[in-house]
Amino acid sequence: MATYDVIVIGAGPGGYVCAIRCAQLGLKTACVEGRETLGGTCLNVGCIPSKAMLHASEMYHEAHAHFDEMGLVGAKPSVDLPKMLTYKQSTVDTNTKGIEFLFKKNKVDWLKGWGTLAGKGQVKVGGEIHQAKHIVIATGSEAATLPGIEVDEERVVTSTGALELSKVPKRMTVIGAGVIGLELGSVYARLGSEVTVVEFLDHITPGMDGEVQKTVQRMLKKQGLTFVMGAAVQSVEKLKSKLKVTYKSRKDNAETTLDADVVLVATGRRPYTDGLGLAEAGVEMTDRGMIKTDAHLRTNIDSIWALGDVVAGPMLAHKAEDEGMAVAESIAGQKGHVNYNVIPGVIYTAPEVATVGQTEEQLKDEGRKYKTGKFPFMGNARAKSHFAGDGFVKILADAETDRILGAHIIGPMAGDLIHEICVAMEFGAAAEDLARTCHAHPTFSEAVREAALACGDGAIHA
Ligand code: FAD
Ligand code: NAI
Repeated sequence: MATYDVIVIGAGPGGYVCAIRCAQLGLKTACVEGRETLGGTCLNVGCIPSKAMLHASEMYHEAHAHFDEMGLVGAKPSVDLPKMLTYKQSTVDTNTKGIEFLFKKNKVDWLKGWGTLAGKGQVKVGGEIHQAKHIVIATGSEAATLPGIEVDEERVVTSTGALELSKVPKRMTVIGAGVIGLELGSVYARLGSEVTVVEFLDHITPGMDGEVQKTVQRMLKKQGLTFVMGAAVQSVEKLKSKLKVTYKSRKDNAETTLDADVVLVATGRRPYTDGLGLAEAGVEMTDRGMIKTDAHLRTNIDSIWALGDVVAGPMLAHKAEDEGMAVAESIAGQKGHVNYNVIPGVIYTAPEVATVGQTEEQLKDEGRKYKTGKFPFMGNARAKSHFAGDGFVKILADAETDRILGAHIIGPMAGDLIHEICVAMEFGAAAEDLARTCHAHPTFSEAVREAALACGDGAIHA
């Protein structure tokens, strides 16, 4: 029986970061992972492969949309999907092997197999019992499919199957206009599929700023995606030559049928805790199937911690990573802390969408007095030269103190631009602090400064 200070179950971004940080803080650490490769959902079937497919399909679109205009002439590229999948897989492999290297470098033992809680301070992996002073559960999430709709990962797929399709479908129906639906819907629309997104609510990307929701939907429509809003999918019938998707309008209960070659079910994810033995160990769960923790990510059982997608909060890799570091620090006797008010969210469509902090709707609900500084990318020289003038930066600041409360960006590199606002928020900055910071010209980030200026005496280029 091996004895550790910490055993982490699950090697996704939450688990592997926690394990590495524990080892860096001098704790003898092991990480249990049942998959063949490390990195969890994110590296194997999530963030990384989806971004590779988004990048490749965006390059393809760019070559057709703008190359000619920039004087780049010649034969236009065509799509070789199997080759694109090879590129995607090689991106995944380099990253998962990278984590293996980091485990070795930091002396984290990888216990290969599925772990089960096996009594106080014990984890069973493949018939062997390992002892630890602390156990961290970081077992992630799985796709939440719809009742009555049978996923086969070939014709009716979750994101995992959608990242492995053998050919570009002629017609794709996406159920759910959330992050996965919009990202993978964009990939296949660019590669030539007719994509129809069926969404239960009357708006896309629930929880995002309303103005952002409307603008993104308009932009994606322009890119060829069709949206059916306020509709609940009833069934997907598998015929030999096609799939028949039936949905019901929430307004008048009218039923409509759509034909598709592939259906992507993208209706959210749920925590994954199968086979862990949580009930036997007495670990408390929430009504929504998540592991219940206190503010420091401790469960009700002494020395068992939980983090990432398996606990409350946004299901995001960077949130899981931050929690991984915080738990490691708490176990090591330091003051682990996650600032949940400053967790950015990014949708990697083209243009990207990035948001942090509060939305206008939330501020209105709270009755808070705020001001809005907005700047369109049309006023940004760099964006215009990149055919990326669509979109805007919007900064919301307290009406009296000028402190930044939230920011919402649609535009080029939005996922990177958001971070200067995150740093500013972490430091409790006012919009004026951003506005007075010199920004290099010509950069996309000047649009952030201009939005900050617009919170005060006004933007220059709008
Ligand atoms: P996971 O990454 O799910 O890892 C958990 C690991 O635990 C898995 O490898 C699993 O095999 C293992 N495990 C489970 N049970 C056991 C057991 N009993 N024993 C041993 N091992 C076990 N987030 C972003 O921030 N940015 C993105 O761009 C992004 N893109 C995404 C795209 C897609 C298509 C999907 C599906 C998700 C995406 N996400 C993205 C979400 C992100 O992947 C998750 O939030 C993140 O992976 C959660 O990390 P985690 O460590 O909590 O769990
Ligand atoms: P989601 O929660 O973002 O969106 C699901 C959508 O499906 C919602 O709009 C919901 O209203 C809709 N829906 C639910 N039931 C429906 C039904 N019966 N019919 C029609 N629509 C229905 O979930 P998604 O897109 O599956 O993503 C799962 C998680 O993965 C998210 O929490 C997200 O944070 C994470 N993720 C993050 C990415 C990123 O950060 N770029 C990329 C991809 C995933």
